[in-house]
Amino acid sequence: MHASAQQAGPPVAGAPEPAALHVVDVPLGERSYSVHIGAGARSVLPGIIAALGARRAVLVSARPDDWNPETGVETLVLPARDGEPDKTLAAVGGLCSRFARFGLTRDDVVVSVGGGTTTDTVGLAASLFHRGVPVIHVPTTLLAQVDASIGGKTAVNLPEGKNLVGAYWQPKAVLCDTDYLGTLPRREWTNGYGEIARCMFIGTGDLRGLPVSEQIAASVARKAEIVVADERDAGLRHLLNYGHTLGHALERATDYALRHGEGVAIGTVFAGRLAGALGRIDDERVAEHLEVVEHYGLPTGLPESLDIAEAITLMRRDKKATRGLSFVLDGPAGAELVGDVEESLVATTLAGMPRQSHDLA
Ligand code: GLY
Repeated sequence: MHASAQQAGPPVAGAPEPAALHVVDVPLGERSYSVHIGAGARSVLPGIIAALGARRAVLVSARPDDWNPETGVETLVLPARDGEPDKTLAAVGGLCSRFARFGLTRDDVVVSVGGGTTTDTVGLAASLFHRGVPVIHVPTTLLAQVDASIGGKTAVNLPEGKNLVGAYWQPKAVLCDTDYLGTLPRREWTNGYGEIARCMFIGTGDLRGLPVSEQIAASVARKAEIVVADERDAGLRHLLNYGHTLGHALERATDYALRHGEGVAIGTVFAGRLAGALGRIDDERVAEHLEVVEHYGLPTGLPESLDIAEAITLMRRDKKATRGLSFVLDGPAGAELVGDVEESLVATTLAGMPRQSHDLA
């Protein structure tokens, strides 16, 4: 919650001193932790592991060896692969077997290095092994740094659907090293910027033009506030789903050709239009939704092939849709979950959206 810029933790032999890092605290009582953000943030890992008192680590990494941070303790490195196909119960079982063969104890630590699918899968394995071992996430994509690795949600997919098996398991620390972002392909940047763009409507204010580490820190600080107020997703945490009801439907309707952040971006433009159609916000605020999404170079129109009836069917199945068609919408008192939105209004608002051919390369 509390965001501050401070020097990184203890220096590590042979490692360059990181410049000033942003540190965002997530105060959850005995499960409190800090998120360290900035260039070189991964170099604080040995100090954090030493402070935990862990003597051994398993580092599960979806990145090349030279990306893996030093741990300062005896370490087993296990390879992983980012991507939904590897986010399975079988992968979790495989990791737990490797932890067992290594002799990992509850006083040791697991470290995940990779995108959000890796931090999700490794986080779930850590939550289950010995009924819970400490985990530290080192997210390497913008999307994982601003959202997936923060807040303790872990999950894997079943053939029946995404994220159906999971647990809340807060990490001991999250290290968002912006050095990792330099090599990201364009679509990985836009994927993360989709989540950052929607932050303006859930309480961060306008982040456009700030250095990327400050945009990450502000997004993380807002997420931390929301998680602290509603760790188990009983109310306020719904806000994080701004733009997601349509976003998830677009991901599904395009068979995931549209990335998560791209779907959220289009869903954010739609959320602005729907809030306007319901008289919750004025035209200027509706336009701001489009302007912010355009600023980040994100898609703003519906896929050309989208069938509106299919999109509505998919949105009806959304996890948050406990009261008819439900959306997180901006309004006079800020964003909130709005249920029982008239299907005909949703359909006409969707029909009024421009169509766009998306560059999915
Ligand atoms: N990504 C949404 C949440 O953490 O609740």
